Amino acid sequence: MSGMYLEHVRGNTFCIMGWQLIPLYKIDDTHCILLDTGTYFIREELEALLKSEGLSVSGIICSHTHFDHLGNARYFQDVYHVPVAMPIGEAETCRTFASIKSYLFAYPAGQIMSDPKLAALTCRADILLEDDQEFLLMCNTRFRLLHTPGHSPDHVSIVTPDNVCYVGDALMCGKSLTTAKLPYAFNFAQSMESIEKFKETNYSSLIVSHCGIIGEDYQSLVDDNLSLMKQRLDYVCSLITEPMSGGHICATVKEEMNITTDTTEKAQNLERFVRPYLECLIDEHRIDLILYKDSLCYAPAK
Ligand SMILES: [Fe+2]
Repeated sequence: MSGMYLEHVRGNTFCIMGWQLIPLYKIDDTHCILLDTGTYFIREELEALLKSEGLSVSGIICSHTHFDHLGNARYFQDVYHVPVAMPIGEAETCRTFASIKSYLFAYPAGQIMSDPKLAALTCRADILLEDDQEFLLMCNTRFRLLHTPGHSPDHVSIVTPDNVCYVGDALMCGKSLTTAKLPYAFNFAQSMESIEKFKETNYSSLIVSHCGIIGEDYQSLVDDNLSLMKQRLDYVCSLITEPMSGGHICATVKEEMNITTDTTEKAQNLERFVRPYLECLIDEHRIDLILYKDSLCYAPAK
């Protein structure tokens, strides 16, 4: 047990605190709606905590298809018959093993099917959130939606009736921000556009998945996230000084940023993390994708 516990945030909005934060909204004294479900590995502890708090889950709203957010959605669907809502783009991503495989391009299909934290990801959403949908009514409770794609293809941030915004992984804070060597974004440019959206908001609090609950004065955090993303993008660009293969760039990034890849999975993730930086730099015409000695390479832009 990791000492998971329930913390009150505001009104009927609460948050399960632990390795990661899982917000919930109490629709009455004994029922709640979960915002994300955590990773497969915390399933028993999550269920035990909900039981000890006298809470039954009546619905789930998912921010995005990553193992540490969607890991128990299908389980709650199957066992407790609760509806799962998620953005349409995320629902497409987690619909089948094949769609998950196409998203996790660095992982062989067999690895996805045999790894319990990835195999748990397949889920057929009951409620699809459209790109321009501004709110969701679930169990007679109105949640506002802030579409924040970029970290994942169709990531959404969810605002409870208490004006508390669960940002999922759209923002980083605390240690996850200060120690982030290579922040992940599926689409780097889109992720930064989504971070900019928070400048136009005035939520009472933000719940950030991997660090904590931030009060209403969060604009400096938004700036810090943008600065970090831009700085890391510039840094990766500066490492591409000649025609380099993807593997060469990964090795250079690993060396220069002192990134540990002591398991094959970490090495796979390095490739998966570096690729969006390269794609963004190509789109911004800062590097070129070229043929060099008959091999695909990245080179400084001409
Ligand atoms: Fe994520």
